[in-house]
Amino acid sequence: MRIVSVLLLALSLICLSRPLEAADPGVEKRIDELLAQMTLEEKLGQMSQASLGGQLTEERQAEIRKGRWGSFLNAGPVEVKREAQRIAVEESRLGIPLIFGRDVIHGYRTVFPIPLGQSASWDPELVERAARIAAKEAAAMGIHWTFAPMIDITRDPRWGRVAETWGEDPYLASAFAASMVRGFQGDSLARRDTIAACAKHYVGYGAAEAGKDYNTTWIPEPLLRNVFLPPYDAAVKAGVASVMSAFSDLNGIPASGNAFTLRRILRDEFGFQGFVVSDWDSVVEMIQHGYAADEADAAAKGLSAGVDMEMVSTSFYDHVKELLAAGRVKQEWIDEAVRRILRVKFALGLFENPYPDTSLQASMLSEEHLAVARRLAAESVVLLKNEEHLLPLPASIGSIAVIGPLADSPRDQLGCWTMDGRPEDAVTPLAALREKLGEDRVHYAAGLATSRTTDETGIPAAVEAARRSDAVILFLGEEQALSGEARSRAFLDLPGAQEKLVAEVAEAGKPMIAVIMAGRPLTFQNVSRRVEAVMYAWHPGTMGGPAIADLLFGDAVPSGKLTITFPRTVGQVPIYYAHKNTGRPPSPDSLGIPMGTPVDPKGYTSKYLDVDFTPEYPFGYGLSYTTFSYANLRLSAENIPVGGRLTASVDVTNTGDWPGVEIVQLYTRDLVASLTRPVKELKGFRRVRLAPGETKTVSFTLTTDDLRFYDSKGRHIVEPGRFHLWIGPSSAEGLKAEFTVTGR
Ligand code: NOJ
Repeated sequence: MRIVSVLLLALSLICLSRPLEAADPGVEKRIDELLAQMTLEEKLGQMSQASLGGQLTEERQAEIRKGRWGSFLNAGPVEVKREAQRIAVEESRLGIPLIFGRDVIHGYRTVFPIPLGQSASWDPELVERAARIAAKEAAAMGIHWTFAPMIDITRDPRWGRVAETWGEDPYLASAFAASMVRGFQGDSLARRDTIAACAKHYVGYGAAEAGKDYNTTWIPEPLLRNVFLPPYDAAVKAGVASVMSAFSDLNGIPASGNAFTLRRILRDEFGFQGFVVSDWDSVVEMIQHGYAADEADAAAKGLSAGVDMEMVSTSFYDHVKELLAAGRVKQEWIDEAVRRILRVKFALGLFENPYPDTSLQASMLSEEHLAVARRLAAESVVLLKNEEHLLPLPASIGSIAVIGPLADSPRDQLGCWTMDGRPEDAVTPLAALREKLGEDRVHYAAGLATSRTTDETGIPAAVEAARRSDAVILFLGEEQALSGEARSRAFLDLPGAQEKLVAEVAEAGKPMIAVIMAGRPLTFQNVSRRVEAVMYAWHPGTMGGPAIADLLFGDAVPSGKLTITFPRTVGQVPIYYAHKNTGRPPSPDSLGIPMGTPVDPKGYTSKYLDVDFTPEYPFGYGLSYTTFSYANLRLSAENIPVGGRLTASVDVTNTGDWPGVEIVQLYTRDLVASLTRPVKELKGFRRVRLAPGETKTVSFTLTTDDLRFYDSKGRHIVEPGRFHLWIGPSSAEGLKAEFTVTGR
């Protein structure tokens, strides 16, 4: 038996390198010298970012020459960026280089699964490698700065941007926040193949009311601190170079005008050394929010709150001069903003190396990059159902039918926010299955041209393909355009005529497997009850096809687990594992109360009359081709003093026939606190590889710091008392123990 040990300090989420950890005296001196020479216009120019596009017009050239812009986003080809940079460093008065930003969200040319999919791998190390690859490919094209990671917590699958998140849990999102920052920024921002990261959207954007993008958020301070802020703290500790202020209104104050979150928490409490960029137009959108009277007022509010660089709108450049003269803004705020921006430009080495190392382009879509994309796609797939071990399919199978609108849709499998991924580089499931089995053994009929179509004329051909085959693989889900920014949905069912397609294909009477590719959790019971197996593949990226084919035929074994709760129906949303208990928690025997029951016969508890209160699939859930058992949960002590530590160990055995990876999860519950605590909170996880029959002991060390929470006075405390602890395969199962935290 081998021993696996995990030290579960909060610090374990923190990276080893902190590129912006402390102000470097040499750099700060150079910044002082520049600040002393800069005019107010030049300072405001540094604080301004425009969208450049593919053309460098005469007007833009003149602007760059006079220092009008410190940054561009969405700048076109590498030559355009190079020329713009040349003008900035050679022809502007002070030669300050531009910083080029871009949304490199889940890969550049090599596209990895959407972040929600990546998180289902529970593999921060692999995610870090993927971000390194994205950084290298992007840097090769003259990009210095990505607007990622997106580290918003959300508990609402209606929100289209759920695709870009790491799911519902702050502990897990913090782990991925740190790993992605490390991946992009490497051990030094000055390396030619690293880029600056940007943690976004600060803060609370994922709590948009009703899952409607850009909507209002109301987040009481303890919830903000316990759930929404931890990933930002982790990103800052990992040395993130920048933070983006959100579009949303937080408790009545828009995020880009929120001094409490930007100055007090981000800078003073977290010690953030980088700069804040406002999301696109979000400074002037404070007018529509009803928080600023006009653009000048918006500029005053944005700058005073702590926005350092304004994205796209131009209120800083247009109005700060008059605001300064009127005494509404302070010179020190302007100097501080410019200092922070220049600090990142120095850290990136742009003053020494303003131009990209285009030799890095040779690595674009390299074998190594594609192998990581394939592995991450395979690790991100979650096996939700596998009746009678239908999967994996035997290589000896006669033929398969490949059906559905997502089977051969390269653009869709790349997912949202893939500005630089090319459909022609994506390998679809159809192509990969043909490659694996040979063309003759694959009978393809899409059935439906797109996920949304209601044109059913292709369905008979799909039924015919099913009849001719030994098994049917249905590629269902959402096309990429249905998730991402401004892509909220009020229904979570499979769109278009997909349920009809499945119902008709089922008439062929063949074993059926549904592979669902989507940007969010969907509700698909009408499909899952008709098929023997369900794999949730998200939008899996460039190598999604080969990864799925590997899993279907057992060349890879599923290990992914959900990082967001799947509801039974949209009416349960928001539904998440770390909920509070209420005074009337439902019990399992209150499941399944029939629709229309006039008086609740099973008591007045917190549930629905027309749907079970439990989710369709809980957070942390996922099957494998093998099975795992958990035994011998033991704690090193039953009582631990505040400041002490506890080791919890469990024996995990692979009880099936396949080698596999189990994601072992540790949860705790603080039973009585001065502010009620969730029924379960993730406090640790571990990927454990086990051969058939093999047992490993998995140990987690927890300190009482890991049990702290923010109370209503903003104190980060652990209160003595009883705790429950579980180690198990998901948030809904596990072995349970109890311990007590005693006073010092
Ligand atoms: C708006 C989006 O909210 C943000 O995530 C993105 O980085 C910026 N636009 C820039 O494209």
